[in-house]
Amino acid sequence: MQDEPSRLLVGQVLSFAGDPFAEGPVAARHLTQGAVLVQDGRIAALGDAAALKAAHPGAEVHDYGDALISAGFVDAHIHYPQTGIIASWGKRLIDWLNTYTFPEEARFGDAAHACAVAETCLDLMLAHGTTTVCSYATIHPESVDAFFAAALARGMRAFAGKTCMDRNAPDDLRDTAQAAYDDSKALIARWQGVGRLEYVITPRFAPTSTPAQLSALGALWAEHPDLLMQTHLSEQVEEIAWVQSLFPQARDYLDVYEAHGLLGPGAVFGHGIHLSARERARLREVGAALVHCPTSNAFIGSGLFDLAGLKGEGQRVGLATDIGGGSSFSMLRTMAAAYEVAQLRGVAVHPAQLWWLATAGSASALGLGGQVGNLAEGMEADLVVIDLASTPAIGQRAARAGDLWEALFPTIMMGDERAVVETWVAGRPIHRRAG
Ligand code: GUN
Ligand code: ZN
Repeated sequence: MQDEPSRLLVGQVLSFAGDPFAEGPVAARHLTQGAVLVQDGRIAALGDAAALKAAHPGAEVHDYGDALISAGFVDAHIHYPQTGIIASWGKRLIDWLNTYTFPEEARFGDAAHACAVAETCLDLMLAHGTTTVCSYATIHPESVDAFFAAALARGMRAFAGKTCMDRNAPDDLRDTAQAAYDDSKALIARWQGVGRLEYVITPRFAPTSTPAQLSALGALWAEHPDLLMQTHLSEQVEEIAWVQSLFPQARDYLDVYEAHGLLGPGAVFGHGIHLSARERARLREVGAALVHCPTSNAFIGSGLFDLAGLKGEGQRVGLATDIGGGSSFSMLRTMAAAYEVAQLRGVAVHPAQLWWLATAGSASALGLGGQVGNLAEGMEADLVVIDLASTPAIGQRAARAGDLWEALFPTIMMGDERAVVETWVAGRPIHRRAG
């Protein structure tokens, strides 16, 4: 017996058969009159609309006209507790953490506050078409409980971890090496694999952990090698100099993590802007992932990520808003920033590459390549429906388009949540645009 009626989403359909950084835009699959059949939370079929309608006459039809149906966006690096301090003025990384971030994060021992912010953040994400996020919480286990409870209630595939810090942070935001290990272990037991949730071992970054804490988390990861481990790497030059002074014996920033058991194919490093040749070679050898956070990198003044160079040498790269260092909840705005950052380095990233990064690329950076971030039979039915003429300015430009990419690029560059007609999670609509 089937749990739910099958549903047929009809419109233009965009999916990927490969990585457009390696294969070019031909890696994309575009159906102008296509459809996606969803059943019991998964994609049951993908193809021509008329054929799928004929083959599944009982399916509930959702006809979106010429709107674009895509995999939902995957935001591979956010700090949900920073939702309330997004767009805080005038600082660079270390100052910004001390002035804005840490005082706000100190409030997340209050479960009611954590729950309210987690719900606000996830509802904003869904309104922007993002169906999977990978978030840092705070040092408080309650902050992880709040985030996972909110994601579970929404049926989302979501990642999070307790953000561990035992030095260079205010008293009320420090744990210890042992508490980081014990709390993380208890949270893994409570949440790992519940619904669509995934626990991520989360040392904030090298400067806020003692060697003992990094080693404790490295040991925990060795006990749970299937989990991801997330942290920050080489975001700002001042930060790198600080890491060098705190860990004088390390060859470089990446070496700090490696020396404490925190480097492997399941490592997900935010930023990675100012990497040495050795670090790049080692990342590639290990197969760890980098996450590009372009609105954040511009907003905090961090630098220009070498997207083309890193992809060209075979690195795994995802894309993220980095809320609240990032200045937008929108993966459209984030793609636009990635385009602009690459232009400042002399490279024009193709719209197919940008869209892939925000969906399949991010999913694969999180080890979810076969589950979300693309449209294919058997994958989880997390989808977004995009209006390619969501504002008069976008509409008049798209009207001149000669192909899909010209039609899509104005939405990438100028779009926001007004372009998101509907967001679907696990085969059901969860957000519908107002009006
Ligand atoms: N490095 C360490 N913590 C943070 C954070 O919260 N945001 C960003 N952008 N970088 C960090
Ligand atoms: Zn971050």
